Amino acid sequence: MPAEVLAEIREGLVSWRGSGLSVLELPFTGAKFQTILAEAEQDLRDLLDIPASYRVLFLQGGAFAQFRLVPLNLLRAGESASYVETGYWSARAMAEARALCPVVVAARARKAVPPFAEWRIPPDAAYCHITTNETAEGVQFHEIPVLSRTPLVADMTADLLTGPLDIRRFGLIYASAQKNLGAAGLTLVIVREDLLGRGQDVVPAPLDYTRQARAGNRINTPPTFAIYVAGLMLKWLKRQGGLNVIAERNRRKAAKLYAAIETGGFYHCPVPPPHRSSVTVCFHLPDAVQEAAFLEAAAQAGLLNLQGHPAVGGIRAALYNGVTEAAVDALVAFMAEFAAKHAHR
Ligand SMILES: Cc1ncc(COP(=O)(O)O)c(C=O)c1O
Repeated sequence: MPAEVLAEIREGLVSWRGSGLSVLELPFTGAKFQTILAEAEQDLRDLLDIPASYRVLFLQGGAFAQFRLVPLNLLRAGESASYVETGYWSARAMAEARALCPVVVAARARKAVPPFAEWRIPPDAAYCHITTNETAEGVQFHEIPVLSRTPLVADMTADLLTGPLDIRRFGLIYASAQKNLGAAGLTLVIVREDLLGRGQDVVPAPLDYTRQARAGNRINTPPTFAIYVAGLMLKWLKRQGGLNVIAERNRRKAAKLYAAIETGGFYHCPVPPPHRSSVTVCFHLPDAVQEAAFLEAAAQAGLLNLQGHPAVGGIRAALYNGVTEAAVDALVAFMAEFAAKHAHR
């Protein structure tokens, strides 16, 4: 989290905009909270240039709930869905959808994004799902395909707002907030209006895209604190100069780290360069013993939470928007020092 946003959160917890009320004390139907919600939506729309034909929903349940909510909200009875499998999270999304509908794998690759020309999306698929950043493996879509016929649905939990995006390429985007928007508990859904009104009657109203869109996100109490924090993060992003500036900063952070991994042959990144993520950088040391020693020494040096995803192991540095270039420099310096000490043992 950027330090200045943490300071703003602290202020709002005590007295929101000088009102004498904590942000936790604002009723969600009242004018003050509605201002927070409206500003968050407008700032998101400004940053991502979201067309008026898209609705923004502030839901709960995390991206994981969306794995089933996407088919429940978008599929009419009997329809099928297609998925592109690129790693751990897209496989999980697909497994959840399989419990509800026929699923066709449009393309599959590990440690890479399969070439768009090889995707085989059945003409009757209601949507095609991708995971734009696989956080376990460190694989990222650096280009978004243009699908002329099928709505593209994307889990952008890890990389939404890390750079500019052409929203028009998507039918629907969802993202948990805790990576780049601050606090866990909020799931953003950006959905093209013509995809509303489908879906099945079994969806609980607070998670039903159509009913929430019609009710202006007021069906029940939304995650007010997480929305407040997301709103502050969005204003911070604007103050940084917007998504082009943030993307450039993120590119510099990732480039420094990948250069450190490539230097000297001690570290190794299994993802080929064109597919490497700029937000979740995953790499290995020569063996698991060295990796454990690396994590322990890093923690002692104040470099925390570097363990890889349990499904993959190794080391993972998450370089979300709030991570500073100075933090990356500290990690890079530590890596050089550690390699110098341990490379020939
Ligand atoms: C790409 C991706 N999708 C989905 C999820 C699940 O998000 P949540 O735990 O907020 O439901 C994660 C969590 O790390 C993720 O990285």
